[in-house]
Amino acid sequence: MLISGLGLPNAFADPANLETGRDIFYKHCKACHGDKGDGKTFAANVLNPPPKNFTAEKSKKELTEERMIESVTKGRKGTAMMPWKSNLTQKEIRAVVYYIRKELMQLEPQMNTDGHR
Ligand code: HEC
Repeated sequence: MLISGLGLPNAFADPANLETGRDIFYKHCKACHGDKGDGKTFAANVLNPPPKNFTAEKSKKELTEERMIESVTKGRKGTAMMPWKSNLTQKEIRAVVYYIRKELMQLEPQMNTDGHR
């Protein structure tokens, strides 16, 4: 779907994107990261390093959108975090990262970064 040029503010403001992201997260990511994204899952007991707790302040500082997309695409070497590029499209990866950032990390979309600090 081509959104740009139709006068919509931002592709990421599309609620369909959030829905897609949520579906993907519940289907593929929840087992390790937990439905709240805090990484408190059964799987975490046996994983070293454990899944990222997206809700921790440290993660919010450390994980840029770009880094998350990169990690989901290519995986994290030597960890249980596998590369998803053969299972998900770039668009799906962006959608799930968007979902994690907005709903689980409760960060504002990056378009609001100008102005206050
Ligand atoms: C089998 C368990 C498992 C599954 C399933 C899983 N992850 Fe992970 N994930 C991990 C682990 C373990 C880490 C911590 C890796 C590290 O410490 O470098 C991690 C880290 C991450 C990170 C942070 C990477 C970074 O740069 O530090 C992101 C973002 C992430 N996962 C997203 C996802 C998404 C999105 C999905 C679903 C498409 C998913 N994960 C599915 C285990 C999993």
